[in-house]
Amino acid sequence: MRDHQSGFDLWERREQSVLRIVPYVSLALATALSLLSDHGSAGRVALQLGLSAATAGWIAWMATLHPQWPDRPRVPAGVYYPVLICLLGTLISLNPMYGFAIITGYVHAFYLRPRVRFVGVFVCAALAALAQMGGPGGVDGGSWPLYLLIFAVNALMSGGICLFAWRGDEETQQRKAIINELAEANARLESALEENAGLHAQLLAQAREAGVHDERQRMAGEIHDTIAQGLAGVVTQLQAAEQARARDADWKRHLDIAQQMARESLAEARRSVQALRPQPLEDSALPDALADVASRWTALHGVPAEVSTTGTVRIMHPEVEGTLLRTAQEALANVAKHAKASRVALTLSYMGDLITLDVRDDGAGFAPDQVAPTAAGGYGLTAMRRRVARVAGTLAIESEPGAGTAISASVPAVPVGDPA
Ligand SMILES: Nc1ncnc2c1ncn2[C@@H]1O[C@H](COP(=O)(O)OP(=O)(O)OP(=O)(O)O)[C@@H](O)[C@H]1O
Ligand SMILES: [Mg+2]
Repeated sequence: MRDHQSGFDLWERREQSVLRIVPYVSLALATALSLLSDHGSAGRVALQLGLSAATAGWIAWMATLHPQWPDRPRVPAGVYYPVLICLLGTLISLNPMYGFAIITGYVHAFYLRPRVRFVGVFVCAALAALAQMGGPGGVDGGSWPLYLLIFAVNALMSGGICLFAWRGDEETQQRKAIINELAEANARLESALEENAGLHAQLLAQAREAGVHDERQRMAGEIHDTIAQGLAGVVTQLQAAEQARARDADWKRHLDIAQQMARESLAEARRSVQALRPQPLEDSALPDALADVASRWTALHGVPAEVSTTGTVRIMHPEVEGTLLRTAQEALANVAKHAKASRVALTLSYMGDLITLDVRDDGAGFAPDQVAPTAAGGYGLTAMRRRVARVAGTLAIESEPGAGTAISASVPAVPVGDPA
């Protein structure tokens, strides 16, 4: 594109420089020929030379030295051109050899407005015909028809040539404008592409960051529900063993439970790393796995936990079942840790498009809007909420101090094998 543009510019510059010298060359030639052919008085020669110099000066001042002046419509093109024609006409009337200089009249008709140009060209044709007839003296009553014929030939030829030249010039201008527009569009496209590439890189970086963030949260939830919960239980059992030993009671039982807990949470942590479903769901359906978890919890903490199921049991997507089981485990862990409850009820409801798990206890209760994660813990409810949200479910916590706690997780019923 730029090559075409510079090609155009080069040719235009060459054309401009040729056109710039045409007036002077033609005037010099005409002056030389007129001096050779004219054997008139010294005064007449001086007049011719003076007028030639004035014409050259007029062209130089108005067109060559101030090229932008005649370009302006009306004035001074409207001043420049008529004066030029008068000077050329006077020179032709002094000596017909100045007919050669009329070429400047044709070329500089360009400076006039498009419609007026033809008037300029026809006036030039009239002057050229006059020169070809040998000056005003050559046109008398009898030679008028010949003069008109020569004028017509001049007008047709020069008018035609000028018309084609102007059309060509207009086309060149249009082409240049199109090339400029295309070059601009190209530049805009290039910058848009660059901007796009920048945005793309930014989006990739953001997506990567979002991915890392999500994965970190998922891992935090997994660590909480497997290792942290297990370790908390182990610590509790070890403390219980120590106290039992001081009382001379059955401390060995607590050590055994601690050992079993450590093994189980280690196994769960390994399963989580391998992206396997929680162990209780490995061989059992969700209601059975829940019943198993609840009975083991009761055996450990001595608080009765009742599990009931409503609706038609269907096997759900592992993510859905895993989410509900982990919710139940954390809710029970919280009851053991914080509630001092006398009983717990777990209800699993299979409804049309939803499965809901409710865990209720009659313990101490708490103010849900006042709990926030701390360095010492407090991540269980947050992890529970995120886990439920990941399968497009919702978590509701109803509790107040002294009034027990109800946790309700509702998740979409996505049957096993459904890619959703
Ligand atoms: N069933 C409940 N009865 C009474 N208080 C509860 C119950 N469940 C949660 N809480 C209160 O909500 C807080 C936040 O619970 P969350 O499970 O988020 O953290 P945590 O159990 O303290 O620690 P973590 O689960 O990280 O080991 C608890 O500290 C407790 O005060
Ligand atoms: Mg907790």
